[in-house]
Amino acid sequence: MIIAPSILTADLGNLGESCKNAMNAGLDRLHLDVMDGSFVPNLTFGPPFISMLRDVLGEDVLFDAHLMISNAENTFQQYIDAGCNHISVHVEAVNHLHRCITAIQESGATAGLALNPSTPIENALEVLPILDSVVVMSVNPGFGGQSFISSVENKIRRLRKAIDDQVSNGGKVVEIQIDGGVKSHNIQTLRDWGVDNCVVGSGLFNNTGTVEQNLAELRKALK
Ligand code: DX5
Ligand code: ZN
Repeated sequence: MIIAPSILTADLGNLGESCKNAMNAGLDRLHLDVMDGSFVPNLTFGPPFISMLRDVLGEDVLFDAHLMISNAENTFQQYIDAGCNHISVHVEAVNHLHRCITAIQESGATAGLALNPSTPIENALEVLPILDSVVVMSVNPGFGGQSFISSVENKIRRLRKAIDDQVSNGGKVVEIQIDGGVKSHNIQTLRDWGVDNCVVGSGLFNNTGTVEQNLAELRKALK
């Protein structure tokens, strides 16, 4: 199970240190929640901030950008230029999805498609053959520390089957990433559902334990 730490609930006043601690604890990537205050009711950070993080962390850390923004199909290149390796866009926020995904990949990044909790997986099926990942939102996007929406189970299981069918017919392997409300009490269940990659924000960055301690809890739950 890949764990992608979301820095949204990290100590932003000491972010470089928090991120380095996460990498020293054995994580290999950052999940960067970009929010524009329009597509979601919160505003976080943009390309300059990401470039600064890239300078602090060096080239080896995978930057997984989750673009919760209204105009991703016209602005994703700025995030690649700022150092992002993977770009996930929301199906609800893109007009020309096939073109957007192929353009992200032609720019050298991998491409993910994010689905809000109420968006059916059918919205991903026409581009499933070309996607690198599907991000199933298990919270309503905009904030860290929210409760897991357990009704996404059926959606995950159907998506798992669709991808397995695609692969058994010689098609592309597509990663299932779940995003929101993942903790040590539910992460094993998510693996049982067929999830490959879990975004974890407040389950890692919180004031009950260090990142190392919280990561150890998650890994223990996966044993
Ligand atoms: C929510 C973000 C998530 C969130 C995860 O809009 O996309 O990545 O930061 O945080 P937790 O794990 O605390 O739900
Ligand atoms: Zn996210």
